[in-house]
Amino acid sequence: MIYKTIVVTGASRGIGKALVEELAANKEHHVIALSRDLKTMKNNFNALENVSSYAFDLELNVKAQITSITEKYPKIDLLINNAGYLVKSSIPNIERNLLMKSFEINYFGVVELVQALLPKMTSSISHIVNISSMGAFQGSVKFPELSAYTSAKAALCNFTELFAAENEGANTRMNCLCLGAVQTEMLSEAFPGYEAPCQPEDMAKFIADFGLKSHYFLNGKIIPISLSTP
Ligand SMILES: NC(=O)c1ccc[n+]([C@@H]2O[C@H](COP(=O)([O-])OP(=O)(O)OC[C@H]3O[C@@H](n4cnc5c(N)ncnc54)[C@H](OP(=O)(O)O)[C@@H]3O)[C@@H](O)[C@H]2O)c1
Repeated sequence: MIYKTIVVTGASRGIGKALVEELAANKEHHVIALSRDLKTMKNNFNALENVSSYAFDLELNVKAQITSITEKYPKIDLLINNAGYLVKSSIPNIERNLLMKSFEINYFGVVELVQALLPKMTSSISHIVNISSMGAFQGSVKFPELSAYTSAKAALCNFTELFAAENEGANTRMNCLCLGAVQTEMLSEAFPGYEAPCQPEDMAKFIADFGLKSHYFLNGKIIPISLSTP
């Protein structure tokens, strides 16, 4: 018996891969794993019969892709917008195409995914969790060359508050987690040699638990989740 159908984006590696494994450990969940790299996801989740993997690109037609993927699922209970793209560049040197790519993946694609999945979120209470960054959290320490990334993530924070305001009293709640450093390929590529105080599996446990429970008490909240970033 499946009680919850859960969508996780960015499931091919890092936090998203660990999230799928964590959520699929409960056999009452069915997890829809999304990323561009279908082959890697199929290898990752081969042994998990309650995981379905689909190729999905936030830079392409999000609504058409997700509609065909989810047509056989009657409802979605939890959406975790985990996929992300980090581009590093100083402000004078940011190229427009990379700025656009950052906003396509970290913001526009997420908004379109929410628009497309909302009609499927028909449970008495469903939840959307947006994964943002500590760099997008107002008043946090800022690091150079991350403006194209964290400004898109900041838009996601603002979207979370606006979504909750527009859907006050509705059955779908949305919250946003601003993560500090987690030891993933994204972090190693951006900050070679830096050692994060948190592993993807540990963060995935926290996000999974948050996604399944916190919406009974929280809506429209932007929450810093960090050991390392003031
Ligand atoms: N690691 C950290 O320290 C840290 C800190 C703060 C916030 N975060 C946020 O946490 C989330 C997970 O980060 P991570 O460190 O696990 O990153 P990661 O290892 O780079 O994984 C990113 C995931 O996003 C997917 N993705 C990238 N471009 C995509 C696209 N165009 N369409 C669909 N999927 C796409 C990738 O899959 P494919 O390449 O297969 O498509 C991959 O599965 C991200 O939102 C990130 O910004 C991470």
